[in-house]
Amino acid sequence: MTSDERLALLGGAPVIEQPLPHEVWPPPADQTELSELAGQRNTDISIKGNSGPIGRLEADFLAFLDNRARFAVTFNSGTSALLAAYFALGVREGVDVVGPALTYHAALSPVFALRGDVVLADIDPATRGLDPAALQAAITEHTKIVTVVHQWGHPCDMDAILRIAERHGLRVLEDCSHAHGSHYKGRPVGTFGDAAVFSLQANKAIYAGEGGILVTSDPGVHDRATLLGHYRDRSRDSVLDEGLRAHWVTGYGLKLRMSPFNAIVARHALAAFPARKEARHRCLRYFGEQLRDVPYLEPVHVADHVDMGAWYGYKPLYRTEALGGVPRSVLIDALRAEGMEVGAPSGPRLSTLPLYARPENPLFPGTPKKRAAPRAGSHAEHVERHALSLPTFTNWPEDMKLIDQYAEAFRKVDRHCDALVRYAVESRR
Ligand SMILES: Cc1ncc(COP(=O)(O)O)c(C=O)c1O
Repeated sequence: MTSDERLALLGGAPVIEQPLPHEVWPPPADQTELSELAGQRNTDISIKGNSGPIGRLEADFLAFLDNRARFAVTFNSGTSALLAAYFALGVREGVDVVGPALTYHAALSPVFALRGDVVLADIDPATRGLDPAALQAAITEHTKIVTVVHQWGHPCDMDAILRIAERHGLRVLEDCSHAHGSHYKGRPVGTFGDAAVFSLQANKAIYAGEGGILVTSDPGVHDRATLLGHYRDRSRDSVLDEGLRAHWVTGYGLKLRMSPFNAIVARHALAAFPARKEARHRCLRYFGEQLRDVPYLEPVHVADHVDMGAWYGYKPLYRTEALGGVPRSVLIDALRAEGMEVGAPSGPRLSTLPLYARPENPLFPGTPKKRAAPRAGSHAEHVERHALSLPTFTNWPEDMKLIDQYAEAFRKVDRHCDALVRYAVESRR
């Protein structure tokens, strides 16, 4: 062994020389997009209805979902769209929403603003989304809604979840914020439930900068969601129910609409998406193949009947026992020293966050909460503690060399397992 072959953490040369960041997202705008943004600046910088880029984005988005949903309504963020969806689906005091114990908090947090309650159910280790059996076990007389999040791009087990929802009369909300372009048995996610939300925030595969879009085929959900976030023109022009339309001047009090600039950015991202998706798939399939012989990694599993759409990072699981029990934080230090862009995924289990953990809804003091969540040893806890977050490589074939180097860095750590174990023990002292 030459000195260069030592782990970089222990003084050797790093495998990866390309400076960070390795995930460069979102991509820069081309001239056409910039000209359209400039043109909008001098025509209309606040769209009160759904004309211009707002209406065009909504129509394009429905086409992107194979026109399997009737309505699309833009919002200024995914969180705003989720608030409107929960309101439209009937969340209020006494209503419980069952959702996954491990996901980004905004998938469920707006429930508390509507005085509802959240019951957290375990995830399915295969999909990393809501486990149908855990959903079934969590249902009580208060459960009216189930939220599925197609976590990190992998669709949930929709057949099983829809069967349970139907049996118990639950409404289904799909959070597709990680899953633009994902399909379950050939059908786009976002078209299975009573409503779906896609965040269009900058990290997402289809990005507006800040923005979100709600889709539904239910006119009642459409009307109530529109009234919550779009008073005046939009409600006057598009709320279908005459009785509800009477509220068009005020809506239900909030203004959550998207700016036209964000809509323009999102339309361009949507148009560029098919080619980018193809490139991501090539990169990440290749990455998965290269990682197969790393004994301490469990590469991302993709079921045969799903299309991963955009992906949302590459998140294998760390098998601690296959690397001598080295803690994940030490492994991450070793990989970073080799030049890798790697970390632990950002969101902790929701039950560990004060909004979920405290016995009272902090927005409405005196309103008790159930704080129901899976016990220790859950799949949610396992994934939270063992997942590694790696870049969503998007440039094919340019990223191939970098992917090879990542795989080599992982293998190098394996070859130096004993040295890393010693390092971990010594640094604990
Ligand atoms: C699963 C999920 N839901 C909702 C959101 C919130 O979307 P936004 O940031 O657009 O408000 C995010 C954002 O990352 C998310 O990952």
